[in-house]
Amino acid sequence: MTDDVAARATAGFRSAYGAQPAGRWAAPGRANLIGEHTDYNDGFVLPFALSLRTVAAAATQPGGTWTVWSELTGETVSFGAAEVAAPGRVTGWAAYVAGVVWALREAGHAVPGARLAIASDVPLGSGLSSSAALESAVLAALVDLGGLDLPAERRPRLAQRAENAYVGAPTGIMDQSAAIRCRAGHALFLDCRDESVEHIPFDLDAAGLAMLVVDSRAPHRHADGEYAARRKSCEHAAEQLGVPALRDVSVADLDGALARLDDDETRRRVRHVVTEDQRVLDTVALLRAGRIREIGPLLTASHASMRDDFEITVPEIDTAVEAALAAGALGARMTGGGFGGCVLALVDDAAAAEAVAAAVTAAYAERGFTAPGHVTVLPGPGATRLD
Ligand code: GLA
Repeated sequence: MTDDVAARATAGFRSAYGAQPAGRWAAPGRANLIGEHTDYNDGFVLPFALSLRTVAAAATQPGGTWTVWSELTGETVSFGAAEVAAPGRVTGWAAYVAGVVWALREAGHAVPGARLAIASDVPLGSGLSSSAALESAVLAALVDLGGLDLPAERRPRLAQRAENAYVGAPTGIMDQSAAIRCRAGHALFLDCRDESVEHIPFDLDAAGLAMLVVDSRAPHRHADGEYAARRKSCEHAAEQLGVPALRDVSVADLDGALARLDDDETRRRVRHVVTEDQRVLDTVALLRAGRIREIGPLLTASHASMRDDFEITVPEIDTAVEAALAAGALGARMTGGGFGGCVLALVDDAAAAEAVAAAVTAAYAERGFTAPGHVTVLPGPGATRLD
């Protein structure tokens, strides 16, 4: 898969620029095992990288300009110093690339002019963070081409800044951290307050288990506005409670905290975030003890919390989770920001994955939903230079 996508990036580079790239850099999409909408509350997340990747084939170009070809549209976009002097001047998919150049320059780096060709296996709009994969691949390419001093642990913040301030999406630090810092065979336990990480063994094969990803194919309606609204409501609640972030409310403090809030909706939002942080910690404890099978109920509880308290699921997603559980999944939950995207189902093996996928497809057909997609995944590596 990666070989194909890397070959497509090289072929695209050759036909767009009539030359060979100096190198190729890859960054993966991600699934979040557990810990949803906790990142911007300074809390805990546990994503893993997918083997689906975005590849940037690249070489420097003189003159302080950047040219990017993408297989997505077949179009080539060029921009120079004026476009990266302030956010928002490049729009569409190329904004993620211009945003990275902008954020690097803002941080004081002398970014080399470059030609890039982008190919990707990460599906767009499926909640698997194709945008973080693109930012992270481009960032890795520019850092290496320019010999810039930016160690991997400082890259997620910079890529996030590209997305927040240049593109204008108020996302947290999880997706870029996953794309850059994940390790094969592991999930990334990230403390979003200080960005410390621990690589937690997550060897599904050895445990005789499989992870099914179901693409709900639900249209992403109002996802951006709803995301921003959830974030606001969490910040407002933290202010009311007099804590820096909701991460500072523990499960033991939860009832007292809820009693101090003045409306039910805010109470539900807070209950999701506080209990979700605890579910991440509980999941990590089970994985550390090698008890992967037992995380199923935590995944399912996380889903119920997103559905009932954070209110970010949609009928297609809830149908997929219910059908997966009814067909024998050990646990299932939506992964990512919500209002569509993908569902993760932890299952016994490849045969169980097929049975669960068939059950979800049948439940969809009964309700007249567009047929879902599905694939089984293993935790892959983070961003890397290929050659
Ligand atoms: C999106 C954002 C992340 C995170 C998740 C929800 O993927 O990009 O920062 O907030 O939603 O967990």
